[in-house]
Amino acid sequence: VAFGGTGDLARRKLLPALWRLHRAGLAAETPVLATSRDAAMDDARYRRLAVDAVRAADPAADAAALDAWAARMLHYQPLDDDLSGLRRRIEAIEGERGLPERRAYYLALPPAAFGETVRKLGAAGLGRSRGWTRVVVEKPFGRDLASARELNALLHRCYDESQIYRIDHYLGKETVQNLLVFRFANAMFETLWNRDHIEAVQITVAEALGVEQRAGYYERAGALRDMVQNHLTQLMTLVAMEVPSAIAADAIRAEKIKVLRAIAPIRPENVVYGQYGRGVVGGESVPAYHDEPGVASGSTTETFVALKLELDNWRWQGVPFHLRTGKRLDRRLTEIEVKFRRAPVWLFRSAGCEEDVHRNTLLLTLQPDEGFSLLFEIKAPGERFSLRQLPVRFNYAEVFPRIPEAYLTLLRDLLEGDQTLFVHADEVETSWSLYAPLLDAPHDPLPYAAGSRGPAEADRLRA
Ligand code: BG6
Repeated sequence: VAFGGTGDLARRKLLPALWRLHRAGLAAETPVLATSRDAAMDDARYRRLAVDAVRAADPAADAAALDAWAARMLHYQPLDDDLSGLRRRIEAIEGERGLPERRAYYLALPPAAFGETVRKLGAAGLGRSRGWTRVVVEKPFGRDLASARELNALLHRCYDESQIYRIDHYLGKETVQNLLVFRFANAMFETLWNRDHIEAVQITVAEALGVEQRAGYYERAGALRDMVQNHLTQLMTLVAMEVPSAIAADAIRAEKIKVLRAIAPIRPENVVYGQYGRGVVGGESVPAYHDEPGVASGSTTETFVALKLELDNWRWQGVPFHLRTGKRLDRRLTEIEVKFRRAPVWLFRSAGCEEDVHRNTLLLTLQPDEGFSLLFEIKAPGERFSLRQLPVRFNYAEVFPRIPEAYLTLLRDLLEGDQTLFVHADEVETSWSLYAPLLDAPHDPLPYAAGSRGPAEADRLRA
């Protein structure tokens, strides 16, 4: 049951993912009931909307199969105040098809509507069923610790934790899941994965896009809430966590929470905020953030954050974790850089090679060119000891031409009841409490030109 079934998220992500799941035979007999405030919408019009949405995402979709899927599997019911109409429609669809009351409610809604919708679902008796009942909550999950706690309390009144699927779509990305395989299936890395061998870790999520049409939301959020508290922090926990006892939701989430709890309070001097000015991105002139539609003039909302995290635990003591994200940067790149310590004795100094620049570095590129590189020192042929740093590279696309979209993976896991890639209540709350002191402190972002690498101050923090 898709709340917000006519909205942007449903059209751009959910419907295309549901279609692909269907095509992959993974949800072949799963009907979808969309609901929204649009009282003029009906089954026929919704099916047209859905077909258009899928075509926009997947122009090569087989037209006849798509129409057949829409006609057979998609339904629409206008939202009614106490959800009694919705409930009757769910029961009718289940009755007609002889379905075993396995229900997932997907709240593809603006955050302000989460609480009320959950309350209504509970009051309408939609918290339980004879089969199973699951509820999916999109991000942002609260806007600070207090609101996240409130939302968790509300959800827990109606659902227990095993029924709640909090989305962080980064966890659904294939390359993010590959982090687990990379670390725990390749013994050669795991033995080096600690303070003895690693000097620093940097996690970058750079976007070339600006705020687009989302100023209404973004003005109240900013990069710290929009990206750091969730996506970057999640990536960081996967890089830093201990070896879990099993590849299972409880075991992995427990290790991630331990990482979050080990992060030392963030010192204000270890944070740099930025806001993009005018500039050129991909050859195109783009406006400054404060000239974007819907942005208040003089807005101090940050569109860039760089910060340093320090972990107080045995494995990572003294190793800085730099998180860095921004909009309107020079390019789109999500990458984890693991810099190893330099060789303890630098034999090549006498041959004129500065030791400082020569360190093995592992680059895990999560998007857009998914893969990894390991930078090695190589002797350039000919010269006596001229050293070059060159990559050993693996590129996903060369071996796996199609990488599934995050939402497909997440919807599949939702239907299968696997919570590994969803965020636990304790994770959300611990993450918010980590950033709470920053959210409460006023800050003036430093300007940076659109199309640049962000404020120079961020490089100084790194250095
Ligand atoms: C969303 C943020 O969660 O993630 C957006 O709200 C951001 O501001 C997006 O653009 C980035 O996701 P991706 O998958 O394109 O890296």
